[in-house]
Amino acid sequence: MFHMGWFLGFGFGSYGWNQQWSGNAAADLANPQLFVDLATSLERAGFDYMMLEDSSVIPDTFRGTMEESLRAGIVRMDPMPLIPLLAAATQHLGLVATAATTFYPPFLAARLLTTLDHLSHGRVGVNLVTASPDAAAQNYGLAKHYEHDLRYRMADEWVQAVTALWDTWEPGALTLDEESGMFADHTKVHRADFDGEFYKTRGPLNTVPSPQGHPIICQAGGSPAGMDFGAKHADTILASVAGADGMKRYRDDISRRMIGFGRDPKDVKVLFLVEPVLADTDADAIEKKRRMDAANQGNIEASLMRMSYISGLDWSKFALNEEIPDLTGKHNGHQSVVDDFLAASAGKTLREALASQRRGTSSVQLVGSPDTVAGQMDEAMQEAGGDGFLVALPVTRKNITEVCDGLAPALRRRGLIREEYLPGTFRDNLFAF
Ligand SMILES: Cc1cc2nc3c(=O)[nH]c(=O)nc-3n(C[C@H](O)[C@H](O)[C@H](O)COP(=O)(O)O)c2cc1C
Repeated sequence: MFHMGWFLGFGFGSYGWNQQWSGNAAADLANPQLFVDLATSLERAGFDYMMLEDSSVIPDTFRGTMEESLRAGIVRMDPMPLIPLLAAATQHLGLVATAATTFYPPFLAARLLTTLDHLSHGRVGVNLVTASPDAAAQNYGLAKHYEHDLRYRMADEWVQAVTALWDTWEPGALTLDEESGMFADHTKVHRADFDGEFYKTRGPLNTVPSPQGHPIICQAGGSPAGMDFGAKHADTILASVAGADGMKRYRDDISRRMIGFGRDPKDVKVLFLVEPVLADTDADAIEKKRRMDAANQGNIEASLMRMSYISGLDWSKFALNEEIPDLTGKHNGHQSVVDDFLAASAGKTLREALASQRRGTSSVQLVGSPDTVAGQMDEAMQEAGGDGFLVALPVTRKNITEVCDGLAPALRRRGLIREEYLPGTFRDNLFAF
């Protein structure tokens, strides 16, 4: 059996507002109902969790303007306040929202996540990112963003500070002894007095310990520093790597790093991104994939915009018919993604490099009827190892139905995903197998 998650690539944002299947976008913008529908469907399908991406900028690096981003509708509401609404509509699904360690003060994050864990009865998780654009850093008062590896060093200390705050209440501290009139035992509640290089926090938390105590930590770094951070702290790691070989290498690498940090590799669930192309029959799905590829073909603008966002450099300035200039030490964004692209581009013009770039984020190609795709997923997991998949499709009700009412039952018929949840927390279910 393997685990399943759904990745919301634009967080609590807009998914193709003017597309054929995007629904009544004008009325639905910022309406939580679409996300509630997704959550209840994922629970029906037996998924482990949904993960809401987040950032705090309208991208404006490409050509130095927000024009293209605003045309496309790249906006995001804060995902954290959505969690209680999703929790109220579900009983078992894990609910993960993204927080940037660079910008959240540890006390604020520790208290918020503890509160959300209460409101969801032990089902909250947090995707920890260091965030990349300078514009995001400037929103929080910095002149520019910290350097990539320094961000991860800070993030490591941030997790220690947050964990110290979570641990300020010892087991048994909450007595609720009505006879003696004692709510909590003060000898079991301590200050954290965390005094690090980057963060200081006093504690204790003025909340009561939450069902999970330590909410689930999710992470998606790809660079050595990012993978070390995940291997040290994460309960679940998300990866977008190409092919079964890449998946196997990535999982082995994470396992090696975990052992180096004194952790058991079984203590993290590594989920690989997939974008299944589903239809009634295999032939229909192949035709659908052909149409999707044709629509994306030659969309150089979109590729340049994406590279600008993830690198923090304006790629409209690079000549399309020349090799990409040497960017060593010049980009400070999603480092591993940019480095991988540059390595694959050696000897090619920018135009050729973009044309041969892996399309989308799918780790394996999944195309076919629900049953065929279920078989492909089984094969990929057996070949590559790993703990499951993270579906990364736009949040439309059509995609939700295809995955939750087509693919998931096909996976279940093959015994590949859970029949039912255990009573208990997100953590209990994530580590049940
Ligand atoms: C599935 C997935 C989800 C991600 N979600 C976010 C996100 O919500 N916010 C963000 O700033 N970065 C996000 N990232 C980027 C990663 O945090 C990371 O920066 C990127 O994978 C590059 O790795 P590196 O930072 O180790 O170079 C995501 C990456 C992946 C693969």
